[in-house]
This record gives sequence, C-alpha cells and structure tokens, in this order.
Amino acid sequence: MSDRPFAALVLAAGQGTRMKSQLPKVLHEVAGRPMVCWPVQAAFDAGAEQVVVIVGHGAEAVEEALRADFGDRVKTALQAEQRGTGHAARCGMPALEGFDGDVVILYGDVPLIEPEAVRALTAARQDGPLSLLTCRAPDPTGYGRILRDGDAVVGIREHKDASEAERAIDEINPGLYAAEIGFLREALDGLSDDNAQGELYLTDVVAAAAAKGGARGVEWPLASLQGVNDRAQLAEVTAVMRRRIATRHAKNGVTIRDLSRVDIDHGVTLAPDVVLEPNVVLRGDTHVGEGARLDVGCVLTNVTVDAGAYLKPYSVATDSKVGEGAQVGPFSHLRPGSDLGPEAHVGNFVETKKTKLGRGAKANHLAYLGDGIVEDRVNVGAGTIFCNYDGFQKHVTHLEEGCFIGSDSQLVAPIRVGKGAYVATGTTVTKNVPADALAVGRTRQENKEGYASRLRARLEAKAKAAKAAKK
Ligand code: UD1
Ligand code: CA
Repeated sequence: MSDRPFAALVLAAGQGTRMKSQLPKVLHEVAGRPMVCWPVQAAFDAGAEQVVVIVGHGAEAVEEALRADFGDRVKTALQAEQRGTGHAARCGMPALEGFDGDVVILYGDVPLIEPEAVRALTAARQDGPLSLLTCRAPDPTGYGRILRDGDAVVGIREHKDASEAERAIDEINPGLYAAEIGFLREALDGLSDDNAQGELYLTDVVAAAAAKGGARGVEWPLASLQGVNDRAQLAEVTAVMRRRIATRHAKNGVTIRDLSRVDIDHGVTLAPDVVLEPNVVLRGDTHVGEGARLDVGCVLTNVTVDAGAYLKPYSVATDSKVGEGAQVGPFSHLRPGSDLGPEAHVGNFVETKKTKLGRGAKANHLAYLGDGIVEDRVNVGAGTIFCNYDGFQKHVTHLEEGCFIGSDSQLVAPIRVGKGAYVATGTTVTKNVPADALAVGRTRQENKEGYASRLRARLEAKAKAAKAAKK
C-alpha cells in the first residue's frame, strides 16, 4: 500500500564546510552531474508529484544547475540562514501548501539514492506518522545513530551529541524520511536547538514520531546511501556511481572490457555493440552509435560517434563529430568543430579544429587541419599544415573533391585547391590552385654526378689543416 501521493523535499542549502571549496557542496559533480540532481532524479523516478529543493548557500548557482537539468519541474525554497536540517525542512513546507499526502525528505549530499529506496520508504510510511531508512555502518563516525527500544526506533542521536555508549551503535541514519504532512508540519514547528551544534535537527522529528504512534525503520544497504561531507567521500561515491553507470550500459549490450576502468558521464548514450576498452572517458553530451569501437585511453567530451567508427588508442576529441565507419588515431586530437564524414581517416598526431572532412577524406599522419573544408576523397599527405592564422584572423582552407596534397605542404589560408588538383610534396601554397592543375612551389632539384666523394675529400683536408694549426 504505497498509493498515497507524495512530494519530496531535498535539502541543499548548506555550505559544506568540510569540502573546503568555493563551490557549494551540492554542486560538486558526480559522473558529470551536480550532486544535488541525483536525489532529485531519484525522487521523480520513484513517483514524487512535486520536488522542492531547499537552497541557501550559493542559491542562485544551485537554482541554475537545477533548471539546466530539470527545467521548471523542480521548485526551490530559500533558507536564507542555515540553522540546521530541521530549519531547512521548515523552509520548504510553505511550497507544499495545499498538498495532501506524504512528504519524503532527502539530503542533497546523498547522490547514490535509488528510486527503490524512496519507494521502500513511502511503503513503510503507511504504518505510522513517519518512516526512515537505517543502515549498518562498519565505521559510523559522523552519522546520526539510531536509538532503539527493543525493536522500536525511538530517536536519532547526532554524532556530536552522542555519549560513548551511543557512539558504539553501528546502526546509522542515512538521512531519508517519509512523513505524513500534517504530522511533519507540527513536528517541525516543535523543534528546538538545544544541542551541541545549536541547530534545529530534522532528526528530532523521529523522536516526535516515536511518541505519536511509531517511527518505522527500514534497513537498507549503506552502499547506496553514503553521504558526501568531504572530497574523500566524493571520490568514493563517484567510484560507485561510475561503476553503476558502466554496469547499466553493459547490461544494455555494450562491451566494456573492464567495468571499473571506464568513466562515463550520466548523459552519455551508447548503442548496442559499442566496445569500450580500458581507460575510456566519455564526458558530457557524448553519443556513440552501434558497433563503434573506442580503444584504450580515448577521451571524448561532447562528441557524437556514428555507427561502426573506430577510435584507436589515446585519441582525444571535444565538441566534434565522427562519421559512420570513420577511423581516428592512435593519438589524434579532434578539437572543437571537427566533423569527420563517413569513412574518413584521421591518423596519428593529426590535429583538427573547426574542420569538416568529407566522405573518405584522409589525413593519416602528422598534420594540422584548422578552419578547413576538406571535401570527399581528398588525401592530405603527412606533415601538411593549414596555415590558418595570420596573427589577427583565422582563414579557411578549402580543398575540393578528390584533390591530393603532397606531404610536408603548407596551405596559406585563405586558399582553395580545386577539384582533383595535385599539390606537389613540399609546396607552400599561396595562390589558389585551379581544378585538375599541378601546383609545385619549390626549387628544382639538380644532381651533380660524382660530387659527393670530391666534397668529402675537400672537407677532410680542411679539418686536418685546422688541427695542425692548433698544435
Ligand atoms: C545529517 C543528519 C545525520 C545523518 C547524516 C547523513 C541531521 C541533524 N543530521 O548530518 O543524522 O547521519 O546527515 O548524511 O540532520 N542543510 C541545509 N540547511 C542547513 C543544514 C544542512 O539545507 O541548515 C542540508 C545540506 O546542504 C546537506 C544536508 O542538509 O545537503 C545534510 O546536512 P549536513 O550538514 O551534511 O548534515 P550531516 O552533519 O551530514
Ligand atoms: Ca552530510
């Protein structure tokens, strides 16, 4: 019986002093998403009708992050002064005016919460005015301890207020509650700040519930309810989240060679039969199509990779697109605005920026392609440089369909090489090349027969004379 509608309050107004950071704690990212967004998501996924986030420290930045992720779905309430978790919850209640149901309260610094935990909580609430999750913790330091009388939960003691004997209790409060709204409103009004921190503790509503017909505790694994107070805990939680995301993709048909050695942000999508080798990092808005393969150490940020493409080891790409069946790397650098067409090849030590490569175009070795339009089937030889910058402005290099750029050429932009034209190796191209022309811009080679041995003899004699003069 968990049919009663529920709203959620997510507490996120605290500074997070223990993070030692300029950034509000709840904006530190876990798997590419501000921490606070995770419990909000869990609340929605569990079926919350409304979610209200209590903001305070860095309120504007937190509101902006929430809007970026959830648009107008999330409401916020301001806790201007941080007087404790109980006070924060109080500040959220006016936003629920007129709502009749249960209120789930979550903390914004517990990002691993899953919807099942929220549902277990709301189900248990049907038996009394309040339910809460509890965890067994091998190291309970810092957490509030669950006080029981026999089986019944009778209260929570904060670590700082706890006696020696209470500190030995290993059942802790991970900070998730569900309460009947009328009871909650009353209990919050009754809170006092008579404690070690001089704050209004939300945890005191548990004792109030116990006095009013029972607080129902449901044990839940700590692994998914760990709180983040410092950056060591942030790293631990991130590792769990990362593993969880990798596992989800693996179950959806992605081959991941080593689940604990890939780092995939939450917004990344991967089609079936994608292969990820170890140490692949996929950030932001990255999408990889069916059967594409990302080899060891590839780092992609906001990149779309189409089906069947192959990124060889240690390729780095940002704000770019890799077309169907294209090949990249090893050791390629695709900078923002790179757009590789189907079957294009970009090889080792090639850097591209704001450059579009057509179908089957190739730049396989040691090149810089900046501000370029490279049409279908163009071949850019080893060591070619697009000289795109004159110290003031960037200019475009346009290589028309099927042209061939010999190795070690420089294309001084703005420049255009016509369809099917040929640029000889080592040419500095400063004038447009017409279609089907050959551009050669280097001194003509001359061979002097037998000259090498005469030259050697002359140099040797010179060296001997110099040595003799020194003696
Ligand atoms: C809290 C619980 C503790 C529990 C632990 C679980 C209380 C009194 N204690 O302690 O029993 O074991 O979480 O992680 O609730 N916040 C506000 N306004 C405030 C103070 C805090 O919005 O005035 C927010 C914070 O931004 C944070 C959350 O509430 O997201 C928890 O606050 P924090 O100070 O980290 O509480 P803990 O000391 O961890
Ligand atoms: Ca905390």
